[in-house]
Amino acid sequence: MARLAPSVLSADFSQLAAQVALIEQGGADIVHMDVMDGAFVPNITFGGPIVKSLVGKTSLPFDVHLMIERPELRIPDFVTPQTEFICVHQEACTHLDRVVHQIKELGCKAGVALNPATPLSALEWVLGDVDMVLIMSVNPGFGGQKFIPYSLEKIRALAAMRKSRGLSFEIEVDGGASLSNAKELLDAGVDIMVAGSAVFGAPDIPQRCRDFKAIIG
Ligand code: DX5
Ligand code: ZN
Repeated sequence: MARLAPSVLSADFSQLAAQVALIEQGGADIVHMDVMDGAFVPNITFGGPIVKSLVGKTSLPFDVHLMIERPELRIPDFVTPQTEFICVHQEACTHLDRVVHQIKELGCKAGVALNPATPLSALEWVLGDVDMVLIMSVNPGFGGQKFIPYSLEKIRALAAMRKSRGLSFEIEVDGGASLSNAKELLDAGVDIMVAGSAVFGAPDIPQRCRDFKAIIG
């Protein structure tokens, strides 16, 4: 069983709260919010004010994915009563251990994301301290890209590492998830499935959430 985390990156930003209401209606579990700074990734999206604007507009928890440089300077902006995860990129953190503890001290769960080319071994020493590992299955920056096939093997290897070390962090996959690969991703060990264009690009958004949930539980 996995949670469905639709990414608002592919939503209609002019009616963000209404779009989030649609995913909630369809049984989504958590709202994935992609924060991009135009430096760590080529695209710019939104920052803390937009995340905060959704507080109280939905009962879903927030999953904040920071694709920004120097995230330690901005983390407090994303702490809200509904923020469950704040996820930083390993590649953006010189002092990753410090950032993980900064997030936890602010009362949120700490996630660390890995770009497709970054090996799992980059997390070897912090793995026991993180609440979630996000495996990027596309190069970050844009919605609607094609799933990179080797990500499946990476997720399986991470799940095996979690088991062998007796750890309990959650595994999230982000990029190119669809109704066609959802079962395979679930079986590989995914606990949280991000889906942007596959949800918000659907003609019936609540129904598409229900279709995902029928596969991932
Ligand atoms: C990409 C973002 C993703 C994006 C996924 O950099 O982190 O969350 O919204 O979009 P899809 O599901 O369309 O690949
Ligand atoms: Zn994301």
